[in-house]
Amino acid sequence: MNLKDALKRKLSKKELAMLPRAFDVVGDVAMIEIPPGLAKKKAAIAKAMQQVHPNIRTVCSKLGDRSGRYRLRKLEVVLGKGTETEHRESGCRFRLDVRQAYFSGREGTERQRVASQVKPGEKVLVMFSGVGPYAIVIAKRQPKVGKVYAVEVNPKAHAYASENVRINRVQLKVEPVCGDVRKACPALRQRFDRILMPLPKGAHRYLDVAFRCLKSRGVIHFYHWDREEDLYSKALRIIQREARKAKRTVRIANMQRVLPYGPGQWKICIDLQVSE
Ligand SMILES: C[S@@+](CC[C@H](N)C(=O)[O-])C[C@H]1O[C@@H](n2cnc3c(N)ncnc32)[C@H](O)[C@@H]1O
Repeated sequence: MNLKDALKRKLSKKELAMLPRAFDVVGDVAMIEIPPGLAKKKAAIAKAMQQVHPNIRTVCSKLGDRSGRYRLRKLEVVLGKGTETEHRESGCRFRLDVRQAYFSGREGTERQRVASQVKPGEKVLVMFSGVGPYAIVIAKRQPKVGKVYAVEVNPKAHAYASENVRINRVQLKVEPVCGDVRKACPALRQRFDRILMPLPKGAHRYLDVAFRCLKSRGVIHFYHWDREEDLYSKALRIIQREARKAKRTVRIANMQRVLPYGPGQWKICIDLQVSE
């Protein structure tokens, strides 16, 4: 049974047509965007979601887009209580409170794509690391990785990252660092083989830091977003401009869509092979 079937007796045909096609699930917390026309039906919708997915314990209504430095969104709890949960993904466990830290369960494939490229002995820097999913997936998938540093400015997300490193038993490989990438990364006084920049709305402002922290030859996974009609031009211009300033040469190894990022927009990733 799907959500529409479960609500057939509670909602009119017009209301059923307004139901969103999908919702997000992180651990046992579900988050759905309820259109204003269905505001009075949100309790019934939440109950139906639980009926269709019995593992869901809490249902939240999204009260807007992600915003602010920590990329959080306001949520109203419609059913259940807690918003702290544990999400499982490819053999890893991620604890977080969906109100206090960014996490998307839809990025599992992208995490595997990047982790599959990491070679034994590499030193990896994950900027904007949230509750630690990229760093932990890398350490689990490539147990011979040299070291992975995970830098995050939101203290609550950083605290969860530290807990997640412990529960996934990757303490010897992953080092969570709390701070702003601009200061915290150079302060590590190390150069990296690979740098991940998973902050589509803003990573471009830190490319100078990434070039400075990368070894003379290395890889950058650069995330950005743009409109469907022209996904990569702007990002490529920014990359070339910043590479020139840093006196580095870049070769584009791969460009790809990661996930839809709102109507007609996509989150993208460009993998860069960088040399002197
Ligand atoms: C889009 S989220 C991605 C989090 C994580 N990589 C993931 O995939 O779940 C971006 C994260 O970057 C953090 N952030 C934003 N600006 C930052 C900065 N200047 N330095 C460090 N972290 C930052 C935010 O708090 C947020 O947790």
